[in-house]
Amino acid sequence: MSNEFLNRLLPENFCGTQTLYNEVMRENIIIHDLVYPHVFGKDQYIGQFSDNSVDELQLMGQSLDLPKGSRVLDIGAGRGRVAVWMAHRFSWKITGIDLAEIPIQEAKEFRKQFPSIDINFIHANIYDYQFDSLFDGLYGTGAFCHFNAENLFKHCYDLLQPSGRMTFMERIRLGPITNADWQHLTADWNCPYVYSKEEYETLLEKSGFKSLKAIDLTGPFRLWQERSVSVRENLKHDIIKLTSQNYYDASLNLAKYENDVTGKGLLGYMCFTAIKQ
Ligand SMILES: C[S@@+](CC[C@H](N)C(=O)[O-])C[C@H]1O[C@@H](n2cnc3c(N)ncnc32)[C@H](O)[C@@H]1O
Repeated sequence: MSNEFLNRLLPENFCGTQTLYNEVMRENIIIHDLVYPHVFGKDQYIGQFSDNSVDELQLMGQSLDLPKGSRVLDIGAGRGRVAVWMAHRFSWKITGIDLAEIPIQEAKEFRKQFPSIDINFIHANIYDYQFDSLFDGLYGTGAFCHFNAENLFKHCYDLLQPSGRMTFMERIRLGPITNADWQHLTADWNCPYVYSKEEYETLLEKSGFKSLKAIDLTGPFRLWQERSVSVRENLKHDIIKLTSQNYYDASLNLAKYENDVTGKGLLGYMCFTAIKQ
């Protein structure tokens, strides 16, 4: 791993992460459900709080390649929409865990609408919770960025059965990110680092996994970033009516900023799948 970037590795900040998602849920959720069906497309939005569409969830689930009835862990399940979708689509027994109380409470409520699926949600930090048995697989969407990947992968290794599988979708670093951009992309979001593809793969191997697949989703991610800007502009009046001019300006500026960094070729998006050796 490049020392230049490694020197920028920040400590994990789960207090900050917890506050971030409790606040985001309180303030943003109406806007999220207004904006993102347009950003993703109606049939591609299920209430996910991550940058991936339903088609990409499907791809990720297929990469895990586990039979019906497998025990699968969703790390950082948020408000549980992805976990419920996975349980329906792949007939896995899903456990979703999240450290932020507001989204995971919402997940528990949401789950009640689907009595036939095998799913449960836990409010805890993944590092603190003792599970009663090992998992056949685990995944994360938009959650792994909050971790030091080396710490997390070692922990995931211990949570899996022999030959258990792990998959996740995350933003990746594609080019040299300036110090100012680094601050916005890491500290401002309580993310310790922006890993490159090679760094993720090196850390997977170092933690006892063999990389199976790395699917590049940068193309759709770029379009997603562009639409995050244009949809906000198109919905300006609705957003302001529900929030305030200040909220609208801040949210649009953030979307523009991320679109700009992505457009410069510095950020991409990938789905990684690995097997416990
Ligand atoms: C961007 S949200 C993604 C939510 C969900 N996976 C989705 O796609 O809708 C990231 C989630 O990871 C959770 N998270 C971050 N660190 C965690 C930890 N140490 N243990 C459990 N959950 C964590 C956050 O609370 C947050 O809800």
